[in-house]
Amino acid sequence: MKYFIITGTSRGIGASLAKQLLSENHHIFCISRSNNQELVNISKEINCKLSYYQFDLYNINKIDLLFEDIFQSIKNDSKIESIYLINNAGVLSPIGPCEENTTDDILTNVNINLIAPMVITSNFIKHTNSLNLDKRIMNISSESVKYLLPSQSTYNTSKAGLDSFSKSINVEQTSKPFPVKVASVYPGVTDTEMQSEIRSVKKEDFLFVEQFIQLSKERKLQTPEYTAEKLIELLFSENFGDEIIVEDLTFTT
Ligand SMILES: NC(=O)c1ccc[n+]([C@@H]2O[C@H](COP(=O)([O-])OP(=O)(O)OC[C@H]3O[C@@H](n4cnc5c(N)ncnc54)[C@H](OP(=O)(O)O)[C@@H]3O)[C@@H](O)[C@H]2O)c1
Repeated sequence: MKYFIITGTSRGIGASLAKQLLSENHHIFCISRSNNQELVNISKEINCKLSYYQFDLYNINKIDLLFEDIFQSIKNDSKIESIYLINNAGVLSPIGPCEENTTDDILTNVNINLIAPMVITSNFIKHTNSLNLDKRIMNISSESVKYLLPSQSTYNTSKAGLDSFSKSINVEQTSKPFPVKVASVYPGVTDTEMQSEIRSVKKEDFLFVEQFIQLSKERKLQTPEYTAEKLIELLFSENFGDEIIVEDLTFTT
């Protein structure tokens, strides 16, 4: 059995990832605040194991318990083939100049985009350390680390932190007997709620809003299905983890 733990599966890229990974030989653990009934229904139809955790990743202190529960069921399997973690859940806001960002919004962004993936990764490695298996972590980062846009300082910073975390984990894992492979990936501009959110910002709050509206009008956004397909190709590729920061998904296979 192959195991997948994916955060942010209620919609967007995460929902497409989970949907495309539904298969008889797979057990998928989905984590988001709201349920994704479509995923649950399909999993029943095709006899794929799916465990849905409606969980708010803002509750950092409860993540240890969540992972105790997840690994309780994984460890009952004596024939684990591989275990994958995809830290995908993310939030964009606050959008606007730093001085106008509220403390609560900054805290939420960094908790969801950076601290939660760090704590989840720590748990994942702790629970799989002694397992001699194919173990992979894919962190969904953003090209905003490279192309800094104004009014997104918290998002840019939390994603840059995620990249730095991926590099740090890779350095640690190289000396381990059964290392975990890790990569931070820039998925490309994808047509999800996050993009609708960017397009709805007032020009005085985000100078580049017109460019994002234009991208959508010209249908230049990737579909979540396409993005998920490329991410899965990368996740399963032999070279996964050779490049820690994957900036262009189209060149990965
Ligand atoms: N779309 C793009 O163009 C783009 C570009 C670069 C990078 N990314 C990255 O790709 C990832 C997926 O983004 P997306 O575009 O698919 O966004 P999206 O459609 O807004 O989906 C975000 C997902 O994250 C989950 N999430 C948010 N807050 C959460 C919380 N407190 N606890 C648990 N789950 C939470 C949401 O579920 P609930 O609301 O149900 O909790 C949802 O499933 C993000 O990390 C994003 O930064 C996206």
